[in-house]
Amino acid sequence: MPITRRLSTNDRDIGIAAAMLRDGEVVAFPTETVYGLGADSSNPTGIERIYQAKGRPRHNPLIIHVSDLDMASRMADFDEKAEAVVASFWPGPLTILLPKKADTGLAPAVTAGLENVAIRFPSSKVARRLIAAVGFPVAAPSANLSGKISTTRFAQVVRQLDGRIAGIVEDDTCDHGLESTILSLVGAPTILRQGSIPQEALEKLLGSMGEDSAPQKIVAPGQLKSHYAPEAAVMIDVICPTTNMVWVGFGPECGGCQLTLSSSGDLEEAARNLYATMVEADALARSGQMIGFAPVPMSGLGRAINDRLTRAAAPRTS
Ligand code: TXA
Ligand code: MG
Repeated sequence: MPITRRLSTNDRDIGIAAAMLRDGEVVAFPTETVYGLGADSSNPTGIERIYQAKGRPRHNPLIIHVSDLDMASRMADFDEKAEAVVASFWPGPLTILLPKKADTGLAPAVTAGLENVAIRFPSSKVARRLIAAVGFPVAAPSANLSGKISTTRFAQVVRQLDGRIAGIVEDDTCDHGLESTILSLVGAPTILRQGSIPQEALEKLLGSMGEDSAPQKIVAPGQLKSHYAPEAAVMIDVICPTTNMVWVGFGPECGGCQLTLSSSGDLEEAARNLYATMVEADALARSGQMIGFAPVPMSGLGRAINDRLTRAAAPRTS
């Protein structure tokens, strides 16, 4: 098993991390959303290693991360609408899907052979220093095993990926706590994944995208793939917990809960705590116990939180 090197955020270590990436190695690093599992997006070996380390299906493409707008404009054409979105939301936790330019230099596996590319310009200074040191966009899925809980803390990255990747940059600054929102600007604007930028904020600029954008509810059992899943079974919208349950509350009404996403009912705090609380609840759950989450309102960041909780509660396929 390879030794996974612990790296700090000083210039020397960021330089080491960048050299590892250029050599086709995989390094986990913090962003303002969750930890990412990075590889140089021009390097087919690095990209292949991401898929291996995560156990990720190869048809599922990767977001590329840039350190400035110039780098982004070499990957895709930004029309007027895209420019307006960029002006309002970049750098920050919004990923934009656009038609990929010809001759980008991206390894084909990054986009899984698709014609569009998902681009993100993170606000995280550490992420940007690392990408700038590589000098080319860094492809990065969330730093977790496929289907498991995304990581927002160094200790969780170590737990899931130690021995599977070359390095981890330690810096617990994943302040949003939920992945970026993915907005497709290929055709009519559509949200492909709810995330840290609420749908309402995008609609102020782009107009209504309708309730169908990124459907939240299970249409038929089994249709929604299990994801973000703790070991224990998960139930959502639990108002009356049973004894075989670790109850995770939201808001002041949940007296008696063992854990809470936010005791005051603050959605930003709940988003920031979500994944770490799932891990904590899993540790508390005794054999046979499940985790029950109290209802979270379906507005603003609540949409993304409910999306993750619904997937955590989806029937496990493996
Ligand atoms: O906040 C985030 O977005 C984090 C951090 C590390 O930046 N990254 C992240 O990546 O959440 P990942 O791989 O866990 O989720 C990316 C999603 C996947 O569902 C993938 O299918 C979709 O983005 N995606 C990526 N490239 C795409 C493309 N070219 N076309 C359609 N969907 C794409
Ligand atoms: Mg992910």
